[in-house]
Amino acid sequence: MGKLDDKIAIVTGAGQGIGRAIAEKLAAEGATVVVSDINEATAEETADAIGGLGVRADVTDRDSVNALVEQVHAQFGQIDVLVNNAGWDRSSPFVDSDPEDWDRVIAINLYGVLHTCKAVLPIMAAQGSGSVVNLASDAGRVGSSGEAVYSAAKGGVIAFTKTIAREMARHQIRANVVSPGPTDTALFASMGGDNPKLREGLTRAIPFRRLARPADLAGAVAFFASDEASYITGQTVSVSGGLTMS
Ligand SMILES: NC(=O)c1ccc[n+]([C@@H]2O[C@H](COP(=O)([O-])OP(=O)(O)OC[C@H]3O[C@@H](n4cnc5c(N)ncnc54)[C@H](O)[C@@H]3O)[C@@H](O)[C@H]2O)c1
Repeated sequence: MGKLDDKIAIVTGAGQGIGRAIAEKLAAEGATVVVSDINEATAEETADAIGGLGVRADVTDRDSVNALVEQVHAQFGQIDVLVNNAGWDRSSPFVDSDPEDWDRVIAINLYGVLHTCKAVLPIMAAQGSGSVVNLASDAGRVGSSGEAVYSAAKGGVIAFTKTIAREMARHQIRANVVSPGPTDTALFASMGGDNPKLREGLTRAIPFRRLARPADLAGAVAFFASDEASYITGQTVSVSGGLTMS
């Protein structure tokens, strides 16, 4: 018996990194997982590994997201869990940043969440049940040098999630945030995490003395997704090895 038996779950950006680890965990807990990613090959590969369904979707594109949600609803007749994990950033001091990168950062990290929620929440409301778990970042809680616009987008995700939690509670839909600290993924490497000095400095600052691994995030997501969290909504939990506390 898994805590997500009989649930249908969509995970965005699930072809690699944290999203893949979340998809693996939800599947291990009994869910049927729709592994969605802008990268079709990695989506299919992850789906094959966990016995799920791989579907290409670009979260910045409303039509693409609507097509994903329509396909899943038509095929399974229900959507119980939505995990908004797709994300992206490029590190730069704000004064040197390129406004084209702002658009991309906000499109993926913030608009992506709006697009999936707009499509999925009416389905969950009609069911009278559902759980949304949004991946933010501790950059959106406490700030992070070199990540100003990303921090704004992730702070926006946290605020958006709280309002959705309030608006949708009457339909027994919950919405919560999991906020990762530095996590050893391709995104982290692209943000300077492949620099040994930065890794060392961060590792020293983290009470558990190591970066997060993608699987470290998955347990909190599975908990929020499951009925074990049935009286918990509008909350944000940092999974950061103690780097941030509040
Ligand atoms: N790695 C970290 O240190 C860290 C820290 C805080 C928060 N996060 C957040 O965790 C989440 C996962 O990050 P990760 O480190 O696993 O990143 P990653 O780059 O390893 O994986 C992100 C996945 O999202 C997909 N993606 C990118 N743009 C997309 C789009 N437009 N539509 C659909 N899919 C898209 C990518 O193809 C990739 O598979 C993100 O929301 C990120 O902001 C990561």
